[in-house]
Amino acid sequence: MEDWPGYFGAVLGKEARETLVQALDLFTHEGFSGGLAVDIAAGEGRDTLELLKRGWKVVATDGSPDAFSYLWPRVPEAWTPRLTTVEVNFAEMEILPCDLVNASFALPFCEPKHFQGLWDRIVAAIRPGGRFAGQFFGKRDSWASIPNRTHHSREEMLELLKGFYVEMIREEERDDAPDARNPKHWQLFHVVARKF
Ligand SMILES: C[S@@+](CC[C@H](N)C(=O)[O-])C[C@H]1O[C@@H](n2cnc3c(N)ncnc32)[C@H](O)[C@@H]1O
Repeated sequence: MEDWPGYFGAVLGKEARETLVQALDLFTHEGFSGGLAVDIAAGEGRDTLELLKRGWKVVATDGSPDAFSYLWPRVPEAWTPRLTTVEVNFAEMEILPCDLVNASFALPFCEPKHFQGLWDRIVAAIRPGGRFAGQFFGKRDSWASIPNRTHHSREEMLELLKGFYVEMIREEERDDAPDARNPKHWQLFHVVARKF
């Protein structure tokens, strides 16, 4: 899983995550568009591209130097002034005040010792009425036993979200088919939440 360039190549061209789409649709319902989003661990940029397509300004961060070489060539020229990319790891990531923090399939890869600091910066950055969208991985997920990963029980996740009105939680728990490459058990929570 930590062959990030291999991952970026494998998922290249896939559509935006459902949590991001849901958050953007909620903003649209409120008549809000074209805000500033910070896309944490944006990877090859599936969500960043959706944000740009919908007129948002985006700061896309990722710790992998290869991520943005997959993203930039796919950004239409007219959108480039609205995109900033920052290569930085979770421990050192600054998060600008913004309308939306998007963290798709990102948070479990933050080391436990850096997680609370990262989460505090996420919460502080989102303006009142702004949103968090992303995934938390549960403790029954196979990867919970890998050192340096951060997984949460539902109760722990809800505690982290106590400053938010939770608009969507979809829990997903399933096994990969046995013939999948590196099959695993998945337990994750898909979350969209609006800051009080
Ligand atoms: C599963 S990918 C998710 C990418 C994208 N957000 C998506 O939804 O497909 C996890 C991302 O976390 C990034 N990452 C892993 N460890 C990191 C760290 N310590 N600091 C910053 N980014 C990290 C990887 O480079 C990768 O892009």
